[in-house]
This record gives sequence, C-alpha cells and structure tokens, in this order.
Amino acid sequence: MKENQLNRVLGRGNLINLGIGAIIGAGIFVLTGTAAAQFAGPAISLSFVVAAVICLLAGLCYAEFASMIPKAGSAYTYALATLGKTVAWIIGWDLILEYLFASATVAVGWSGYVVSFLADFGIHIPARLSQAPLSYSASGGWHATGSLLNVPAMGIIGLISFLLYIGVKESVRVNSIIVALKLTVIALFILFGISHIDVTNFSPFIPANTGVFGEFGVSGVFRAAAVIFFAYIGFDAVSTAAQECKNPQKDLPIGILGSLAISTVLYILVAIVLTGVVNYSHLNVPDPIAVGVNAMGASLTWLRPVIKLGAICGLSSVILVMLMGQTRIFFSMANDGFLPSGLAKVHPKFKTPAVTTIVTGSVATIISGLFPIGLLGELVSIGTLFAFAIVCVGIIVLRKTRPDIHRPFKTPLVPWIPILGALAAIGQMAILPRDTWIRLVAWMALGAILYAFYGRKVDVSKLDIFEKN
Ligand code: ALA
Repeated sequence: MKENQLNRVLGRGNLINLGIGAIIGAGIFVLTGTAAAQFAGPAISLSFVVAAVICLLAGLCYAEFASMIPKAGSAYTYALATLGKTVAWIIGWDLILEYLFASATVAVGWSGYVVSFLADFGIHIPARLSQAPLSYSASGGWHATGSLLNVPAMGIIGLISFLLYIGVKESVRVNSIIVALKLTVIALFILFGISHIDVTNFSPFIPANTGVFGEFGVSGVFRAAAVIFFAYIGFDAVSTAAQECKNPQKDLPIGILGSLAISTVLYILVAIVLTGVVNYSHLNVPDPIAVGVNAMGASLTWLRPVIKLGAICGLSSVILVMLMGQTRIFFSMANDGFLPSGLAKVHPKFKTPAVTTIVTGSVATIISGLFPIGLLGELVSIGTLFAFAIVCVGIIVLRKTRPDIHRPFKTPLVPWIPILGALAAIGQMAILPRDTWIRLVAWMALGAILYAFYGRKVDVSKLDIFEKN
C-alpha cells in the first residue's frame, strides 16, 4: 500500500448509511415546524418534494462525476477536471462553508438538544457553559451574550474528531449504529402518528397567500423549499469517501442516489404526519417533532424523550460525516499542492488523513464554541448551492471536452438535467437573505487573497485527475 493511501474498506451499505447519516439531522428535527408555520402550512410536504427534485438534479450530476473521478475532493476535484484551477480553488474554499460550517452549526443544535434532554432528567447545564458568547443581529451588530463558551458543542466535535482520527472503519461502524437509531425513531413517529392524523388539519392544504411573497400560497411552498433545502444537504458527502470504498465507480452513485431517495420518502411521510396531527399554526417551535408527539395524547408520553434521543443521534451522525468530508477534501487539496503538503500525511497505523483531521477538528471546535446557530446555518446553504451549480455546469463541459472517458454512471438527458440543476441552485441562492450574500462575498474575497499569494503558483499540469489510485 502506498504511503499516502487511505484504507479501502467501505461497501455499498456503508455509503448509503454515510449519506443518510449526513442528510437526516437538524433540517427535519428543527426546521420543518417553522417552515410549515411561517411559509407553507400543510403543503410543507410539497416543499419537501420540490427541494428533493432540485437535489435529485444535482445528485445525478454528482453521481456521474463520482463514478468517473472517484477522488475524495468531490466538487473541488470535479471543478479541477473541468473548469481549471482557479474555479477549483474557489470551490475548495467554498466547500469549507458546506462541510466545516455544517459540522459546527449542527454541533450547536446538538448542544441545545442535549441540554434540553438532560434538563428533562433534572440535570441542568448552566447557559454560561452551553451557549455562544457572541451573538449577531442585523440591527445591533455583534454583542457579547454573557456566556463563556458552548462547551457541549465543542465536546462533541472533539469526540467525533478523535473517532475520525483513529479509523474510518470505526467511524463508519459508529455511524451505522447512530443511523439505525435515528431511523427507528423516525419510523416510530410515522407509525404512531398515522392513526392520530386529523384530516381537518389538512384543510386548506395550501393556505391562502397573505399578500406577501413567500407567506403561504404557491410562493410559500417554494420559500419553504428553500428553507428546508438544508435538510437534504449531505448526500454529496458520500462522494468524499471515494478513496476509501472498495468499488467506488459502481457504489458511489448508489450511495448518493440511494441515501437521497430513502431520506426523501421519510421526509415527506414525516411532514404529512406532523401537519396531520398538529395544526401548522402551532408548529413555530424549535422541537416540532416533540410537539407532534404531545398532540398524539398522554399514552405516548414515553415517546417524547425517545424522539429527543433520536434527534441527538441524528445530529451526531451529521457532524461525523460532514467533518469526515471536510478532512478528505483538505487531504485532496493538499495532495494536489493547493495546501501545504504536510496536510496530505496519512497516519501510518490508522490510515486516516491524520493532520487534516486534527486541523479541521480544532477549527470546527473553536467555531462551534463561539458562534450562534442562525449565522452559521445560512452560510452552509448558500455554500452548498454554489457547489451544486458548479458541479452541474462541469458535467456539460466534460461531456464536450472529454467525451472519451468511461462513465460507469451517466446523468440522463444531458444537457437538460444539468442546466435545470444549475438554474435551480442559482434560483435558490437568489431567495436567500442579502446578509448571507454579503458574508459569502466576504468569504470568497478572503479566499481570493489566499489564492493570489499561494494557490495561483500551484502547477497542476502534471496532475492526472483521471488516474485510478
Ligand atoms: N442535512 C443536514 C441536517 O439537516 C445538514 O442537519
């Protein structure tokens, strides 16, 4: 085995589990309620269909790339293969928003759930030690909250980083257990909930628009789709395991599209049950699924802590897979020369990208300890959509420039599916708030400065991106 080679141990089932691990998390356990209450009403289930279609368009393009270029860099490597090193650097830098910031965002959500779960059992963690010391509001700017640090958020990132350090097999095993637990909890919610549905809650299915674009009516369905898009983020993380699976060309498309399909079905069922048992107007809460269980009656009180536990599990696996993805992307960038070569070191015993794991884990720990969840979450969505758009465009470019390459999986209806995918991603970006755009531009400007001093000098002419390793 080469010195810088990762351990090829993952099979098809592991990849689907990784995808579900990354996908099902804060989106379904937190955002569904507010999106239904504020924008879509019972038609939130339609918003899940709309967001799924957009993700499917991008997912088909990811699947073609992953089968053709099974490298751990994901969208960064695909951009390098199609649009050149400047775009590759831009996407590599952008993916930090998706992966590293997602793990930090979800760790902050995890901390909230753990604090509330422990409080149910009389164990109280003081706010000073479980909330961000910094807060931001559009009107007041930055201010101190009086808290010291979000210690639980930092702890879970530290713990998961350690797991990722000691082995991919161990990490994937823990992920599989967590995924099984969270799927059980979701199945319980659906099964118990179906018999408690009150069909009058579905009427009107699409509440009338209030006169403001995006507040109910058809525009509300689309606005809610943009919000709950976050719930689908993560299926692309499967592609970052490319250098650790046994049969990447066949299994990666199955992992990406399979996890997306399973999550979509579960999301739509959860949305139907939730808005069927509780009137949507009561769902503007941070724990909508628990509110749904309350509405099912006193006989199901036992299900409440189980649901919270399921949410905690769900969020843990999102942190795990997103952190894992980030370490693999940095590893690829370091191998290609875009980051210092020391970062490409593989642990001699554990065969993991040890240095990028330590660096990623440390940065994510600090971010999760200091910043509030809202600020981080929107950056994750805009960063991901940007990567989706580039990947879709890349498919069209590579079909023209390198029609000769063997593509074990082919995106159907090219160029229409990639064109629609890119337009849908850009359309969704356009709906996001102005402040998020400003932060994206500021982040990219920082990346451009680094590129001017470092990335620009990198010689990629000798890299064989299509080489099998
Ligand atoms: N899709 C992931 C979640 O909902 C990021 O937590």
